[in-house]
Amino acid sequence: EPEKREEFSGQLGFILSAVGSAVGLGNIWRFPGVAYENGGGAFIVPYLIALLTAGIPILFLDYAVGHRFRGSAPLALRRVKRWLEGLGWFQVAICFVIAVYYAVIIAWALSFFVYSFDLRWGDDTVGFFTGDYLQLADVGGADPWFTLDFVPAVLIPLALVWAATIAVLAAGVAKGLEKINLVFMPLLLLAFGTLVVRALFLPGAADGLNALFTPDWAVMADPNVWIAAYSQTFFTLSVGFGIMITYASYRARRANLTSPGLVVAFSNSAFEVFAGIGVFAGLGFLAHQEGVGVADLEGITGPTLAFMTFPALVSEMPAGPVFGALFFGSLVMAGFMSLLSIVQVVSASFQEKFGWSRRQASLRVGVVSAVLSVLAFSTTTGLVALDTVDQWANNIGIVVSAIAMCVLLGWVLRRTEEMRFHLNAVSTIGVGRWWAFCVVVLGPVVLAAMLVSRIVSLVQDGYEGYAGWYLVVMGWGTVVLLFVAALVLTRMRWRVEPDVYDAWPT
Ligand code: PHE
Ligand code: NA
Repeated sequence: EPEKREEFSGQLGFILSAVGSAVGLGNIWRFPGVAYENGGGAFIVPYLIALLTAGIPILFLDYAVGHRFRGSAPLALRRVKRWLEGLGWFQVAICFVIAVYYAVIIAWALSFFVYSFDLRWGDDTVGFFTGDYLQLADVGGADPWFTLDFVPAVLIPLALVWAATIAVLAAGVAKGLEKINLVFMPLLLLAFGTLVVRALFLPGAADGLNALFTPDWAVMADPNVWIAAYSQTFFTLSVGFGIMITYASYRARRANLTSPGLVVAFSNSAFEVFAGIGVFAGLGFLAHQEGVGVADLEGITGPTLAFMTFPALVSEMPAGPVFGALFFGSLVMAGFMSLLSIVQVVSASFQEKFGWSRRQASLRVGVVSAVLSVLAFSTTTGLVALDTVDQWANNIGIVVSAIAMCVLLGWVLRRTEEMRFHLNAVSTIGVGRWWAFCVVVLGPVVLAAMLVSRIVSLVQDGYEGYAGWYLVVMGWGTVVLLFVAALVLTRMRWRVEPDVYDAWPT
């Protein structure tokens, strides 16, 4: 008698969890800046086209694989074709690497949530983040590139984040993961919604919105804008590296896939646009206070936006502490839901291959990740390491994995028709042949263009002026590690016969 697979309690639980995974730091600090730099209001056109021709089609592919073959990435892909298990482990390795540094950013946000209450960052927010808080070493200068000088202010919240992750995942898909998303998703909307509405009433907000939305149609002819659009939709939906395969495997046999998929994709986009409004209204206010134009502001994306620019803005506001707490609270919640989803990918695959119980897997995976997180990223050189690993994992690792999904399933194994029939057999909204075209032809072509242009720029220009050897070790080394981990884990023996787990009746 096959073991029964864990399931989400129903459609709502699945949708909230999938949206919880998709909505992350990328929505809050990546989309607004990317849209602003790539044509403002005009960016919506390439963005929507990218969403419809690559983001959503690959999302459906993930769903089809996970639901039909009912397994974490390695098990599900092995059931498609035995040797495809390797791609599954490659995806697990990516999720593991991302989890190890993503948790650190959540820890920073947790600290800054606390600092909001007394505006602890003072007037020099740049100095506060890099100096007082992170205690950054003079990397590349007098200090080494790697130290074991731990920063307690980072280490303590980081330990908390990992403890919470272990506790939630040990409780299970329906009783842990889904419950957290059920509470945090509405709470995130409430907190972030309050923040956006408040920001709209700040002096200067309109200038910020004008800066963001004024369309520059000339960009439509710029291939880099299209690359930016494809890479944003692809990054923001977290498709092609195992997360959605895993989540879809926890849906009931007869669950609708495509309609919830559209709900997930468009909720995520709505949140991006919404975040764009909040962030740029805030930036407009900051520019107004400083008597400069919005275009003159620096630090409008990434950690710089969140941990340097935003604190400055919060300090200038009436009732700043409330605004700061809402902002950093939102970052913590959005980040935590995404973190849960990537760690679940790792935990589920170890449960299945090695026969570990859910609790064993959550604890072991959680503790190993936590230790690595602490060693690599909670020291005085942590920021540089994090920045580098993030760049390579996101721009090389994830893209390679998605291309492999499309090419191996679509070209080599020719299984897209089977996946399409599966989607259509269970879903209310059917997908036509255009879907296969997007997954087999268009998606991989655009992704390959993205990958090549990124590799060329990383090889030619390096990254952030970091030393070449450092990029080889921490950046390219990470990619090599992904392949090695995938190889080793694939070669290991299944402790449990894969057939023990229930499968779709064929
Ligand atoms: N898609 C998420 C975002 O837009 C980021 C993420 C990365 C989520 C990795 C899960 C895993 O922020
Ligand atoms: Na997202």
